[in-house]
Formats: sequence, structure tokens, C-alpha cells
Amino acid sequence: MGPLARRLYRAYGLVLSGLVLLAHPQAAEAAVSRRTANEYPAVPNGRERISLNAGWRFSRFASNPDSLSYDVMKEWILPTGNQFVVTGTQHPRPSGTPPGSNVTYVQASFDDSDWEAVNLPHDWAIKGPFNAPDIPNSMGALPINGVGWYRRTLFIDSTDADKSIFLDIDGAMSNAAVWLNGKLVGGWPYGYASFRLDLTPYVKAGDNMLAIRLDNPLNFSRWYPGAGLYRSVWLVKVDQTHVGQSGTYITTPAVSAESAHLDLTVEIENKRNASRVVDVATDVYVLDTATGQARGDVVATFPQMTTSTMASSRHTVNASTTIVNPMLWGPPPEQEPNMYVAVTRLFADGEVIDVYETPFGIRSVTYDGDKGISINGKPVRIQGTNNHHDLGSLGAAFHLRAAERQLELLQELGCNALRMSHNPPATELLDLADRFGFLVQDEIFDVWRRQKISDDYHLYFDDWHEQDLRSFIRRDRNHPSIISWSYGNEIVEQTEDSGGATAEELHAMVKAEDPTRKSGAAMNRAQAGSRFADAGDVVGLNYQGEGHGESFRSAFPSFRAAYPEKVIWSTESSSAVSTRGTYIFPVTPANHSNVGVQNGGDAGVDPENLLISAYELYAVSWGASPDKVFGMQDKHPYVAGEFVWTGWDYIGEPTPYDTEARSSYFGIIDLAGFKKDRFYLYQARWRPDLRPGNGKLEFLDDRFLLWERLLTFGRPMAHILPHWTWPDRVGEVTPVHVFSSADEAELFVNGKSAGRLQREPSNYRFRWDDITYEPGELRVVTYKDGAEWAVDTKKTVGDAAKLTMKADRTTISADGHDLSFISVAVVDENGDTVPEASDSITFSVSGPGEIVSTDNGNPGDFTEFPSLTRKAFSGLALAIVRSEAGASGKITVSAEADGLKGARVVLRSI
Ligand code: GAL
Repeated sequence: MGPLARRLYRAYGLVLSGLVLLAHPQAAEAAVSRRTANEYPAVPNGRERISLNAGWRFSRFASNPDSLSYDVMKEWILPTGNQFVVTGTQHPRPSGTPPGSNVTYVQASFDDSDWEAVNLPHDWAIKGPFNAPDIPNSMGALPINGVGWYRRTLFIDSTDADKSIFLDIDGAMSNAAVWLNGKLVGGWPYGYASFRLDLTPYVKAGDNMLAIRLDNPLNFSRWYPGAGLYRSVWLVKVDQTHVGQSGTYITTPAVSAESAHLDLTVEIENKRNASRVVDVATDVYVLDTATGQARGDVVATFPQMTTSTMASSRHTVNASTTIVNPMLWGPPPEQEPNMYVAVTRLFADGEVIDVYETPFGIRSVTYDGDKGISINGKPVRIQGTNNHHDLGSLGAAFHLRAAERQLELLQELGCNALRMSHNPPATELLDLADRFGFLVQDEIFDVWRRQKISDDYHLYFDDWHEQDLRSFIRRDRNHPSIISWSYGNEIVEQTEDSGGATAEELHAMVKAEDPTRKSGAAMNRAQAGSRFADAGDVVGLNYQGEGHGESFRSAFPSFRAAYPEKVIWSTESSSAVSTRGTYIFPVTPANHSNVGVQNGGDAGVDPENLLISAYELYAVSWGASPDKVFGMQDKHPYVAGEFVWTGWDYIGEPTPYDTEARSSYFGIIDLAGFKKDRFYLYQARWRPDLRPGNGKLEFLDDRFLLWERLLTFGRPMAHILPHWTWPDRVGEVTPVHVFSSADEAELFVNGKSAGRLQREPSNYRFRWDDITYEPGELRVVTYKDGAEWAVDTKKTVGDAAKLTMKADRTTISADGHDLSFISVAVVDENGDTVPEASDSITFSVSGPGEIVSTDNGNPGDFTEFPSLTRKAFSGLALAIVRSEAGASGKITVSAEADGLKGARVVLRSI
């Protein structure tokens, strides 16, 4: 990175990290209250959206402290979802005293001073310890279960007396129930849903006591779900006549380079007991995605509408407009992810009574059975990854910078699409996807009526699926990144007629809420032509296309024959497994092998140390190596692409060490954010042509970082594995593999050629399987079209001598949220990483920052995540440092290890 680039990078980082406000409707609401004077006419009664993330008291009870449960409260919880019930049954609020009124934790008089002081987002389980009683390793072996109570006071000014007061909870794991001033207001069971409670009837001027109860059973998830108020909580104060919850919808039915037709729907909610006439005016601006703010002049205006909304009801109005020469949204590197924002104002009685912002993008999506997905008429092959919601050692608690880092690495990989497996993500993640230009399949359920686990969503499906599905789509449908909805993953009843009937019902609901996108469910056992498969208008296949395990029988042809017009894609592919930097011998001579342990064999595994070979040829019994998947995708070019299982490792589901390890082996990137060898196998395929000069340097604006990143990492690539420090293998056969998009490669062992190989189209790696290990140097020289392409070397390193440290960002914002990810390497005298080093490293910090967690990406490491002492794994460890709110200055982070020279890095928090 040059000096100019570095300066811009830093400036960009500061702006970005200083503003948690990104481009989503709710965040934008907050932005409005900050800029009344200059950009808009005065907003005397505009809405306020206030973060309630600070100042909570929390206590967890491993066994039930209050005799409450979802079942006891159900009749009082169900009415919270009424707004989203269209075809199902409305649930009136029961009369009488609601449950819990006599529980001490809901009383203002209860003294919670010895409860833990916490800020949100908060995941009560992530601190550990591991091996929590009765929690399976599949759920991460962390203490997610039990009842968690959160309490805080809420000050309401008397001037807000005639407003609507809402509580918006972005995510609460799980079975949320909310009391204000001792009265149960409502709640929502599904832990991934975002929901709103109307506090108005329960609120009083002055201090109010807000108490939230969450309740997690032992066994309700196939992976680590997290626990607690793990996303943001907001207070919204607005005129009683206002834009409803997720109340705008913008579509772009006709898009060209010359013009775009925009359709707008605004839902006006009138909570008064008299009808109200309002004028609705909407202007469109360019959205500066770095700041989440509107930029420049109005670029289009929707015709103003006057409308009357009856007492206590909702009413929808529509308008259309055209934008000339629109800046389209599309995925890089070929396209740019440009965004707009529509600012809707409601006027009544000569005043602006509400201002509501809707970020959106202008793009067309074409779904074609032959050509796959096209954005703005340009075909885009889906190079996707699945990802869970946890952020590694930070747990499920949403951290904007951690999510941004995940996407940065995925973009560097060449990944252009994300499947939100298997539940609604944080809205901020969708904002990031919009800004980075990822294509998204947004998914809601892993389970319908038939269970996968005893206490999973099947217990709620009948009562809640409509509310969950409709609120999810209304929340997310303005994000241009979303190109498809998934209403289910590997649903147990996919092979039954009843499952087909439910698929039809869910598909119809999705269409009613968003007719512009195609949807389906991801199938692993369904047959082409079944009622279930017929219901979707995209065909998502999990592993079925590649053929399970050793079998090459692909389901692509039968689905292709049954649905020639539908897009077919692998919603899950591969499920390859490995641990970073560990190589296990012998290496399978095939291009795919079922991983050992699972089926009793030992292929690619070291069960004693819970490791799996990073030759990247081993997959679970239902999966396939990346090489095998690439082959099947190439053989069936009508397939629109794949979503690899997974981009990042995640907590829980440690297959094949199901009962022994803590986190997954599936990631292309490990849990700490270090790249496995597989990273380069995918990068070679997904970014084959990148080289300096291939980026677009002219974009020296807020997207500079993106292009800078593409350039920096865009050098021709060749990657050798394994490492070349094997004191115990002298004279033994040690296969050498190389990942590169080159078509020829010559390997040299200590300067002697081991042969020049040409890559056949059906091979996705170069392999020299009969190399005999001797210390020294491996060097590969690769060629493309006869010209030298890229070179890589691996050499035998010396003994561990010292630590080195590197921060991903050395300047962070002093906002109490921003993070710096600090990697430590154990190196020899020459500074080369010692590949199998496992020294115990102790971190310390001084200055206005704290070390939130440490990790090393080893799924078999049960050291608690907040521990300041962490063993290196394959030479590396990570510490995550968070700034202190409002305290700027120097943060010094140090690392020490016995017998090694320590290291430190200095951050600036500003
Ligand atoms: C799939 C499932 C994913 C994950 C994966 C692991 O069948 O949909 O959630 O469990 O297997 O291979």
C-alpha cells in the first residue's frame, strides 16, 4: 500500500469506525435527528431512535428462578406478532393481570446492584467456561442454557407524553418476554427475529423499569446459538401517526443505464383514536455508504400524496418516479455497489411529523435456467459461501467491525455471494453486504414442523411461522444485495406431501411480501418433480448436485430436466474439513476422500489431537472436496454456482469430532480469521485473473478501500503446501501440492527440478505426490499461456526465537465498539513463522483499551475465549482489542512467551 493509499485508508477507517450508523432504515432514523437544521426543513417532531445498548444489569440462572416459561406466558406473547398475521389467526391480548407481575425482577424496588453490569450486544455464554453441564459440543459446549434477566431504567420526558414509544429489539436469544413497570408487554420466541413492542400504554413520565427475561432450553440448536440480548436494542419516539415498522418498500421494476423506474410503498400507521390526514413526500438522494448519510442534491422526487388514515389503523400509499442515468448497484469487480436513500416525510397540520429513511439500490436481477444469475444484464457466477451468525471468540454478540472483517476476507478470497445460513442475520450485516456488493440469499428457518433437535423451532412453527416470515421479509426487502429468499434448510419433511404443502404456503407468503425475488428451500433429499421441489422458483441443492461422498451420481441432470427454466445452484457444497497448517500422512491419491473418524477410518485425521489434514482433500460423508465440486460445477455449466459450506469456521458442529471439539472444521478461514490452505484453492478459481492494474484506481472516493484491497491482494498467486519443516520426516515421502490459476508449474526441491506439470482442465491443483523430504527450500514457478505467472517458496525454518505482532488496524475509534485484530506469530531468528509452534503466549494491554478475547483457530482448544494466555496454533494466535468509549490515547498491546523475545504493538484510539 502506498503512502497516499495508506492515508486514505486511515481516513476511511476513522470515518467508518466512528459511525456505527450505517445505511439501514433504523440507523438512518437516528441520523435524521442529528441533522435537522441544514439538510431538511426543521423537524420539530421528527422521530428519535435512541440506542439502549448501555447501562444494563444482568443475571443468569441455570435453573428457573421465577416459575415463568413461554408456555405460561404464551397467550400474552402471541399478540406481539399480530401485525404480521395476514392468513393466520389474530391473537387478542387477554384481560386480567399478566403473568410475572409479582416476580421481584420486574419491580422497580428490586435491588440489582450485585448483578453484572453489561452493555449490549451481549452474549452471556461466550465467556465460558467450556464443557458446560449438559450442553453438547454441537452447540459449542458453552453455557447457553438457563434463564437470563436484563434490567435497566428508561427515562421518558414529559414532553414525549403524546408520542408513540416503541422498543425495537434486533435479536434476543431466546424466548424474550418484556415487562415495563411491572407489566408484561409482550415478547417473541424466535431468537433470530427482530421485533417491536409498543411501550406507549405502559410508559410514564420519568424513570421506567424495563425488564427482559430470556430462556434457553438445553437442546434447541444444531450449532452455537449464543445467548442473551446479542443484537442492539433501540427506543423509538415518534408522533402517533408515523411510517409503520419496516413501513417502506422500494422496487425498481425497469432498469437501464439511461433510466430507472422506481415504485414506492409507504405504510402509515395511525395510533391515534381519530383519523389523521397526512401529506407524504419522498425525495431520493445518493447514499454515501461510508457514512450512511445522504449526499448532494435531490436526484428524484416521488409525487406528493395526501391521504387519510383511520383511527388505530394502518394505511398504504403508493407512488412512482424515474431516475435519469441511475448509478446502478452491482457486485464488484465488474460493477459498483452504488446506493441511494429515499427520505420520506409526513406532514400534518403544517408540521413535519415524521422523517424516515430507506436506503436502497437500483439493479435488475435476471434468473435464467441456462445462464444463472445476471445483475443489470451481466451474468454473475455465484462464488458463494455459507456463514453462521457467530463472530468467533466474540460469540453471537454483534460487532460491526468483526462482521466487516469477515466480509473483507471473503472478498479477498473472491467470494461474491453469501447465504445467511440458516436464520435472519443482523441487519447491519446486510448493510455491509450492500456496501461491499455481495449477493445474498437471505434464509429464515432450519426447521419447520418436524424436529431436528428436541427443543428446536418445531415447537413454535405452527404459532409463529407467518409472523416470523413476514416480519423478516419486510425488514430486509429493501437491501439490493438480497437476490433470493430461502424459507427452509434441509427441512425434514421435504420428502413428504405435507412438507410440499407447507413449502407452497411459505412460498406464497414470500411472494406476497416481495414479488420481485425468487425463493425456495435448500434440499438435500428431495426429488425433482416432488411437490416440495415444485414449490420453489429457484432450485437449491445441498450436496445433491456433486453426489454424496464417494458417489459421483449427481442430481443436477434430473433437476435440470424437470425445471429447465429455474435457476439451479448448490446452496451448500463441499463441507470439506481441515485444521490450519496441519498435514497428516499418508495423503489420499484421489481428488476426494471421506474424512476418517466419521466412518471409522483414519483418512486425513489425527484423532488424538483433534486435527484434520490441510491437504484439503477430505470432506464429510455427505460432502465433497473442493476439487470434486469444481469438477461437477464445470461439467454442468447451467448450474448458477455454489455456496461453499462454510466461508468461516463457527462455534459448535465440530464434525467429525462431534463430542470432543468446540468449533467447526468446515471453514475456508479458521475461527480466529487465519487463512487455511483452502483459501488459495478457492482464490485460484474465483479470482484467476487478478494482477496489479486489474482494479479500478479511478475510484478514489469512499469506495477507495475496496479497490485498494482488490489491488493489494491482486498479485498473481501460487501457494505451496505443506510447510517444509519436518525434522522427523527426512527421507520420507511428503507430497507437495500447489494452488494457482496457472496452467503449468515446475517445482524445485533445493534447486533441483521435480518436474514441470501441465494442468488438465479437470485438475484444480498441481501435485507432486512422490517428493522425498529433505530440509531446505521448495520453490514453485508457475506459468500461464507460456509466460511466467507466480512464484512461491517454502523453506525449512529454525527454532522459535521470538514473537512478532501485527494489528489489522493501528488507528481505531475511541467509541467503545471499534476493534483491532492483532495477530501474533512465533518466528525463528529470520522472522519466518515456525509452522508447528504451540508456545503459550500471554497478552497484556495498557492504555484506553481492553483485550476482549483471544483465539488461535484450533477447534480442539478449550481455553476460555477471554483468557489472556493462549497457546499458539500452527504458529499463530490472535488477540482482539476494543477501544474504551470516550477515552482517546495510545493503547499498547504486548505478548510474551517463555524463552522467546516478546513483541508489542501500539494502537491509537481517537
Ligand atoms: C448440512 C446442513 C448444515 C451443516 C452442514 C455440515 O447438511 O445444512 O447446517 O450442518 O450440513 O456439513
